[in-house]
Amino acid sequence: MINIRVMTMDDYDAVLALMSNTPGISLRDADSRESTARYLERNAGMSFVAETDDGLCGCVMCGHDGRRGYLQHLLVLPEYRRQGIANTLVQRCLGSLEALGIGKCHLDVIKTNDAAARYWINQGWQLRRDIDRYSFTRPGNENA
Ligand SMILES: CC(C)(COP(=O)(O)OP(=O)(O)OC[C@H]1O[C@@H](n2cnc3c(N)ncnc32)[C@H](O)[C@@H]1OP(=O)(O)O)[C@@H](O)C(=O)NCCC(=O)NCCS
Repeated sequence: MINIRVMTMDDYDAVLALMSNTPGISLRDADSRESTARYLERNAGMSFVAETDDGLCGCVMCGHDGRRGYLQHLLVLPEYRRQGIANTLVQRCLGSLEALGIGKCHLDVIKTNDAAARYWINQGWQLRRDIDRYSFTRPGNENA
């Protein structure tokens, strides 16, 4: 049986292992233990894991800036895909945003991740062609 529950820092090592082994997911300094702890504290109860008797099989991280929601690192292990697990994880995130009065959510997808692009489009997410994202990196933080 698959149990969807809130992610805690106790899940950090297992979630990092999931992300490290999944093509299409990129890990940065922002995924350090310290940054993840800060993220989970700032966005309490908004990130989720999918758990089986054998350990975690999926995860998603979600946060907000007070106005908009942001989704990151959705993944489900290959042998558990196409069972609706990702959809359930995403719905839990959107529900937690909605509970705060936040009705819009953004996410980034690496341009070469065609499967993820198909997934989000199929789920009704809109590919923004009207916006370019600009990022500024302070020198010395190239892997931020
Ligand atoms: C994308 C991913 C999270 C989907 O996980 P999943 O648990 O298989 O998804 P679900 O079973 O919840 O699928 C929900 C719906 O999406 C569809 N879907 C799932 N994967 C799809 C894909 N690759 N392409 C198109 N549709 C897809 C399912 O058919 C289902 O459709 P329905 O709602 O009409 O029944 C999973 O393939 C994955 O972990 N990929 C690698 C990591 C990744 O790229 N993550 C996204 C980063 S932005």
